[in-house]
Amino acid sequence: MWPQQGGNGVKQRGDSGRDAEGELISVVRDFVVPSGVETRDGIENASEASILNGLELELGGEFGTTGHDGSFAASGLDGLGFPALRRNLGRLRTVLQGPVPNFKVYRSYVEGKEGIEIGGPSAIFRRGHPLPIYAEIGRLDHCDASSTASLVESGSAYKYATGKPAGRTYFCEGSDLREVRDGSYDAVLSAHNLEHLANPVKALKEWQRILRPGGVLVLVLPHYEDTFDHRRSPTAVEHMLNDYANDVGEDDRTHLAEILELHDLSRDKAAGTLEEFRQRSLDNVRTRCLHHHVFDEANSLELLEAVGFDVLAMDRAKPYHLCLLGRY
Ligand SMILES: C[S@@+](CC[C@H](N)C(=O)[O-])C[C@H]1O[C@@H](n2cnc3c(N)ncnc32)[C@H](O)[C@@H]1O
Repeated sequence: MWPQQGGNGVKQRGDSGRDAEGELISVVRDFVVPSGVETRDGIENASEASILNGLELELGGEFGTTGHDGSFAASGLDGLGFPALRRNLGRLRTVLQGPVPNFKVYRSYVEGKEGIEIGGPSAIFRRGHPLPIYAEIGRLDHCDASSTASLVESGSAYKYATGKPAGRTYFCEGSDLREVRDGSYDAVLSAHNLEHLANPVKALKEWQRILRPGGVLVLVLPHYEDTFDHRRSPTAVEHMLNDYANDVGEDDRTHLAEILELHDLSRDKAAGTLEEFRQRSLDNVRTRCLHHHVFDEANSLELLEAVGFDVLAMDRAKPYHLCLLGRY
């Protein structure tokens, strides 16, 4: 069993909120980090009041009023040109939530180690986010199925964090890393990626092949309750094991009808209209947007154990992350 299980009650959006979150992060970087609340583990101990106080200090104390208890009157921000910030306080809380409760366990397995990330880079692994692993890992290579769907800017150099040596990107299926020798890495990272793979058991077994004995998988999945998948049901592990037995390929459309019926487009603005979403889904081998399978704590834990991982930690983090550490 894992030492602690983190949790949160915040329901937010799906993958399409990344740009807004990025903007907000830069606001926080500009105002909060210079105020000195960033620690080795990320941004910690930053209450809403301290953020607003930090903003007040940065801006010369002219904006809003400070109460007797030292708290800054948030309402003052609305009339002073920060309505967007005021509206986004919930997101600020998400950005500043700090590392997951079990982060020290994850860190102890990746510090200074050699890893590969499948489908990166990932905001959650950056400093100040729930699993700030990029700052801890020694070296990180990368795999993505597609040079167009990939978030890597260009070429094969994997630049995942400033001050870290660039890794190498393999453009290939995450479930078929044939260029990589057995036992090459101490850690495999996969964030918001496994749900996009039609045959997750095949991928997990491939990741075990390239891990050294005792190596770990750091797996982040979207918790279905907190995303546009909330009307679907977590996929049975038996189904995923059958996909493996049947050697299902990435062109699989088994879940397409269910996805088109139940996907909550109101939580996925980037998907556009139902017809646009349908066209994008039909073109999944190129776009890689489909969530073939849907996860919660129970089926993700059962899946990792079924393929032979020893699950050492499991945490939830805002807005929709389900994080697991599995040792092979
Ligand atoms: C939703 S994005 C997640 C990006 C990033 N990890 C994050 O957390 O923001 C999914 C990523 O997985 C990649 N991907 C999808 N299917 C894949 C597959 N079969 N093999 C390798 N990568 C895949 C996509 O190209 C994309 O880069």
